[in-house]
Amino acid sequence: MSESDPHHLHQPSVPNARDAVRALRPSQIREVANAGFGVDDVLPFWFGESDRVTPAFIRDAASAALAGGATFYTHNLGIAPLRAALADYVGELHGATSSDHIAVTSAGVNALMLAAQLVVGAGDRVVAVTPLWPNLVEIPKILGAHVETVALDYGERGWQLDIERLLAALTPGTRMLLVNSPNNPTGWVMRRDEQRAVLAHCRRHGIWIVADEVYERLYYADAAPAANGVAARTAPSFLDLASRDERVICVNSFSKAWLMTGWRLGWIVAPSVLMDDLGKLIEYNTSCAPAFVQQAGIAAVQQGEPFTRELVHDLKASRDHLVHALSTVPGVDVKAPPGAMYLFFSMPGATRSLELCKAMVREVGLGVAPGSAFGPQGEGFVRWCYACDTARLDAGVERLKQFLAHAGAAR
Ligand SMILES: Cc1ncc(COP(=O)(O)O)c(C=O)c1O
Repeated sequence: MSESDPHHLHQPSVPNARDAVRALRPSQIREVANAGFGVDDVLPFWFGESDRVTPAFIRDAASAALAGGATFYTHNLGIAPLRAALADYVGELHGATSSDHIAVTSAGVNALMLAAQLVVGAGDRVVAVTPLWPNLVEIPKILGAHVETVALDYGERGWQLDIERLLAALTPGTRMLLVNSPNNPTGWVMRRDEQRAVLAHCRRHGIWIVADEVYERLYYADAAPAANGVAARTAPSFLDLASRDERVICVNSFSKAWLMTGWRLGWIVAPSVLMDDLGKLIEYNTSCAPAFVQQAGIAAVQQGEPFTRELVHDLKASRDHLVHALSTVPGVDVKAPPGAMYLFFSMPGATRSLELCKAMVREVGLGVAPGSAFGPQGEGFVRWCYACDTARLDAGVERLKQFLAHAGAAR
């Protein structure tokens, strides 16, 4: 259309968002949930959260903070007592850490965005280990980065990383590696020797490691018992190996270990030299996490250890219960993963997992997430969050059997 074209004046272009934003993938989990609208009785196992409320001692701390007037802006990096409490918590799990390395964020997803904003820009090359919770892959794309993926392999021993393939993908000039361990959706946990190899390689090439460790406490140590026989309190972390002042940014959250999904509170461990810049980014994103929520966070990290241990014990029992129940279903191939709170398994029809999950919610009210929601490498699988009581898991398995029997009869 030329400037002289009269239509030019009367047909302004459609007010679109930027191309990078329009190209983002919408959530397929949402798509399945939408297919369930109008179905009265859905058993939802599709989202990554427990069916239990946040423990009372944390809710009480928030109420007390509100009653005490904690309603104002705080420092961009978080209130000093919470940063100190987090430094102690991280230090106890992963070795000495000071408050200067801690920034409080508005939950894990905001921490991931901030980490990406800190280090990647348009045209940068990012590598991510997949299948993966879609937010990690999509966030760098918002900033104009290219994301390449290295897929885990599924076999007899469950999900495994081909470390040589990952190192080969981390070519010089790569800006950032994204690793989520324990992993959503597979429950895969990166081994210590793999972390060591990745860290050495990334050090050599100046590649940033962004480690999403929001499930670090949801670790069922039977896959790798500690030398002293005591159950490990946390999955292997890059923080165990890296110094606090190198190119490693660790993202964490209150959502999973203390059941605080709706509170939107998380944190970042990063080199102290980044903190001024991180503070600016927080200022321009959210300015700070809510003051009374931060106060509740102090209660969680300082008093929450018995709760978290019991939670992990219960989740492990739920995992084992569901693995056992699903293994009795013909055509289902399921293994117990060492971390997180999901089973990611194959079943008849899962090669078209989105259609399968929509049909299951419509026909029998069973809500699970399609593997394809976690990238093309997830196709062929479905994800089931087992963070609920075993009676509900049993009811879900009955529905799965019902669906498969019906699908079989229809063939
Ligand atoms: C791998 C992973 N990282 C980060 C998050 C962020 O959680 P939140 O934003 O609730 O802290 C989630 C949530 O499910 C997740 O699965």
